[in-house]
Amino acid sequence: MFGAGTPGIAGEYFTHDAALVVETVPRLADEFIEEVRSRNDIVDVVSDYLPLKKAGRNYLGLCPFHHEKTPSFTVAPEKQIFHCFGCQTGGNVFKFIMLKEGVTFVEAVRLLADRVGLPFQEELSPEDARRQKARDRLFAINAAAAQYYQRLLADSSTAAAARAYLEQRGLSQETVARFALGYAPDSWEALTGHLIRQGYCPEELVKLGLTRRGPKGFYDYFRHRIIFPIRDGRGRVIGFGGRVLDDSSPKYLNSQETPLFAKGKNLYALDLAKDEIRNQGQAIIVEGYMDAISLHQHGIINVVASLGTALTHDQAGLLLRFAPEVIMAYDSDAAGTKATVRGLEVVKEAGLGVRVVNVPDGKDPDDFVRKQGPEAFRRLVEGAVDLPEYRFRLACRGSDLRQVKNKVKVVQEMVPILATMTNAVERDSYLGRFARELGVSEDAFRAELRKYVRANSAKASGHRKLETRNNIGAQPLATYDTSAIPRARLVAEEELIRLASAQLEVLEEVSVRLGKTPFAHPVHQAIWSSLADLAAEGRPVSAAKLLDRVEGEEEIYRTVTRIFTREVEYSLSNPVDTLLETIRRYQAEERMQELTRLIGERQQQGLDCSELLRELMECRKQVSDHKAAR
Ligand code: UTP
Ligand code: MN
Repeated sequence: MFGAGTPGIAGEYFTHDAALVVETVPRLADEFIEEVRSRNDIVDVVSDYLPLKKAGRNYLGLCPFHHEKTPSFTVAPEKQIFHCFGCQTGGNVFKFIMLKEGVTFVEAVRLLADRVGLPFQEELSPEDARRQKARDRLFAINAAAAQYYQRLLADSSTAAAARAYLEQRGLSQETVARFALGYAPDSWEALTGHLIRQGYCPEELVKLGLTRRGPKGFYDYFRHRIIFPIRDGRGRVIGFGGRVLDDSSPKYLNSQETPLFAKGKNLYALDLAKDEIRNQGQAIIVEGYMDAISLHQHGIINVVASLGTALTHDQAGLLLRFAPEVIMAYDSDAAGTKATVRGLEVVKEAGLGVRVVNVPDGKDPDDFVRKQGPEAFRRLVEGAVDLPEYRFRLACRGSDLRQVKNKVKVVQEMVPILATMTNAVERDSYLGRFARELGVSEDAFRAELRKYVRANSAKASGHRKLETRNNIGAQPLATYDTSAIPRARLVAEEELIRLASAQLEVLEEVSVRLGKTPFAHPVHQAIWSSLADLAAEGRPVSAAKLLDRVEGEEEIYRTVTRIFTREVEYSLSNPVDTLLETIRRYQAEERMQELTRLIGERQQQGLDCSELLRELMECRKQVSDHKAAR
């Protein structure tokens, strides 16, 4: 099993701004992917992580991607895919590793190749190979710089004040070593000179933000500061933060954006925290370097820091690879509160569960854990509140709720939040609780909510495509509104897709008899087109292969794994002909509606409709024949 210690994050996740991209994504030959796939039976691989029990043709286990007591996690050995009927997570063997290990596709292929002792083969063009080398060299420079700073902190007499400072902040030797903290001396060229002597050129150092170019030459950027190396999920140094030793300002300097570092795309301490985040299914996110370090030292390890910005979508996406829930423990000052509110939205949009810790008395997590200890902090985390509750508390904060005008203000602030809840039970429970706490009647609160919804519903309607994303652990929402499509038609479409993946003749027959777009459901149509593409390229048409094609298209992906995992026997009683006829009848009915509309229009304009009428009769006959045949 790929347990602790496996480098978890694939490099290409950390490619940044298009303009800065230096790292290359290895290209993998299709044959190599197939070789890795065929040697890693999905039942074996999944069994490395959880026990599976044979159940009919499939295997069942407790889903590793959401919490459940009865197994709905299904592995289909014939199709080499899995699907959880509880949380709708599914995929092929690569996807399983991507989700379990929090890695990209290429990394998953690499891990599975390793698993069976296949040498990993990547194809790099000479140009890509050159860029890869340049990038490796930049990493090497950062590593050398970090080592230099670290050694100075450990033994140099110039670092005495820095050592005293860290001790006074309560950091142990072990923590200083784990985070590879260092000291940048009070000198204009100590680091630059050191690295040039090692054979690196000043331009490279400038590119990494370690060195600046001034009128009198090159000089060190970080001077007389404690150095916090910032590492990516794999533990490679991508940038630095530097803190002053006193109250002077700016408190921190950070590396600017470089080819290796983009602060909105990384999380401080992720390399040290990721295993524990995965184990606990929960990530705690704090604002500051010192908060993360201090919590780690106190044994709370599932903690990362957001590097002083409000949480970004990229950072939320990064966490989603490891855990379904995020706890935000930002400072409770004005800036921290603002960052929390913005971060909450981002995290929610990424599909993560999110709650907020309120550190009492305006303290930051570092202060708190040092004074109150880790158990007290854990209790804070247990008592963390969800988004609506947090917004409610913010709305109430500092106002005297005995005054009517303050009650009105809080209700006005909460109404838009309640209005976004689509689940009536959920909405009602919050409304009830808030009403009680405010001392207003639920009826009055509900009346305000209705008023708001009515005023805003005009704006909100007309959005057919709902913006949602599939999430691990969360109930997925449909992206497409298919409520107008008859159920029997959807079932027939699914069944045809299932049959077609097993028998290529079906593919052909369908396109001959139903045309290029036989399906009403956009997801079915998309799956169909991908299947047809695979067949046209002469590639093996399998569910597992199909999944690689639709990677990133969450609803399509989920539908494929669901369709192909479900064990149903009715395929035998639903031969292709019957299915085709069913769909044809619906197509005919659709055409009839359209014809009726067209005929109406033309008749109004006094135009000839005989051609259309003839077609209408034909359609009508087709539909009634079909009904008679059944
Ligand atoms: P804090 O001021 O909370 O820092 O800023 P801290 O880590 O708790 O440090 P101590 O306890 O005062 O020593 C939170 C984060 O915001 C960024 C840093 O990433 C910092 O960790 N920051 C803050 C800057 O980048 N520059 C600054 O001048 C201040
Ligand atoms: Mn602090």
